[in-house]
Amino acid sequence: MRTVEWYNGQVRMIDQKRLPFALEQVDLPTVEAVAEAIRDMTVRGAPAIGAAAAFGLALASQQSRAATMDGLRHDLQQAAQLLKAARPTAVNLAWAVDQLMALAAKNGFGSPDQVRAALLTAAQKIADDDVAINQRLGAHGAALIQDGDTVLHHCNTGALATVDYGTALGVIRAAFEAGKRFHVLLDETRPRLQGARLSAWELHNLGISYDIIPDTAAGYYMLKGEVKLVLVGADRIAANGDTANKIGTYQIAVLAKENGIPFYSVAPTSTVDLSLATGAQIPIEERAKDEVLTPYGHAITPAHFHARNPAFDVTPHRYLSGIITENGIVRPPFAVNLPKAVHGS
Ligand code: MRU
Repeated sequence: MRTVEWYNGQVRMIDQKRLPFALEQVDLPTVEAVAEAIRDMTVRGAPAIGAAAAFGLALASQQSRAATMDGLRHDLQQAAQLLKAARPTAVNLAWAVDQLMALAAKNGFGSPDQVRAALLTAAQKIADDDVAINQRLGAHGAALIQDGDTVLHHCNTGALATVDYGTALGVIRAAFEAGKRFHVLLDETRPRLQGARLSAWELHNLGISYDIIPDTAAGYYMLKGEVKLVLVGADRIAANGDTANKIGTYQIAVLAKENGIPFYSVAPTSTVDLSLATGAQIPIEERAKDEVLTPYGHAITPAHFHARNPAFDVTPHRYLSGIITENGIVRPPFAVNLPKAVHGS
């Protein structure tokens, strides 16, 4: 089952708010519903929201009643803005929308219906490519895991965060499928608990050995010498290698360096944003404070208590041992080597 797909003229996705207690899919009939599903994290994870936005734009083209090319492009502009505003940090969303908008802007289409068909084909290709790319980066990264290792992982970067297979969890899965046996420590990942709810659900189903740990226990296990490798995903990587990922990633990276543990970011090259020189330019999403105070409806304080909720942080590139992409493992200096990986040379 794919995390997000086109089904019967609608966008179908796994409702990640219901996991791990219920595996349910929702069918979304409008681009407005797709944008809301991205905002409320029915679908989440950088590559998954990229694919969801691509299908959302294809859906918008089919919703549009425009009979002229200009009319259709006008409706697509509005849909593109709506989708891009849904979540700002993961560049895959804007990347996917921009790909489809560039296609729609091309000359040579005979009718609006030809544009509609081309957009759906392009969205489908983004989704299909994502699965193949994850399998490739999984194969590159699997060599880093040895039998008997303990790997630390943050957030959810698995099949649920992508169309299928996963990035950092894809590396873990590829190593397991290659016959290696090791253990994974899953940061629970406050406040939305993607590690405890989603990564544990995935590893459980795959039969990979894991323990959920409180985020605050990561340093404890590193200092004890239990952690051999840290693997995390990425939402946007600047040209110099600075990497935005789920809040808490930065402190894990600092602890890893302090303890001499290799720390790798795992991401498709569509997560690399060469237009940004450094991570300081990456927009960081601030989410509602009730995610901190009342996670999943369970109040842990009175609702009027004060809180802040940044969804991502930026890890400076000096903490990264490498970035595992579908085109191989990129090593420092990232400013030199990342563009080569992005352009496939
Ligand atoms: O807020 P989320 O759950 O969308 O954040 C997800 C992450 O930070 C992931 O690590 C990242 O998107 C990479 S997923 C392959």
